[in-house]
Amino acid sequence: MTWKESFAIGIPEIDNQHKELFERIDNLYAACAQGKGTSEVLETLNFLENYTIKHFADEEKLQLRIQYPKYQQHRGYHTGFINQVASLKKEMLDSGVTILMVIHINNIVSKWLINHIMTVDKELKNYTK
Ligand SMILES: [Fe+2]
Repeated sequence: MTWKESFAIGIPEIDNQHKELFERIDNLYAACAQGKGTSEVLETLNFLENYTIKHFADEEKLQLRIQYPKYQQHRGYHTGFINQVASLKKEMLDSGVTILMVIHINNIVSKWLINHIMTVDKELKNYTK
């Protein structure tokens, strides 16, 4: 999954973290495609999970700082996604690490992220000066 300039929301602090997230997602795929062991794929997935949590926390702090009126709703989307990643991780632990499972996770995570950035995060720009 490649970062595109059209994904930029115009707030560098957030855009840089989004770029990093795209790289983490690629790393997960690469770890599996290179035939890395279960523990290494899981480690990459844990990293992605933690980075997502950190990124959302930073983004929510920024929203509070600019008194973003849709903070609660936006936070709800983030919480929903964190729960979804946790359940995908559980699914993978149950089924074992397979390339299909990693493709499945990558698909869900990247689709969610692109959609969230393009629709919900882009709105943030209107509230920053
Ligand atoms: Fe967001």
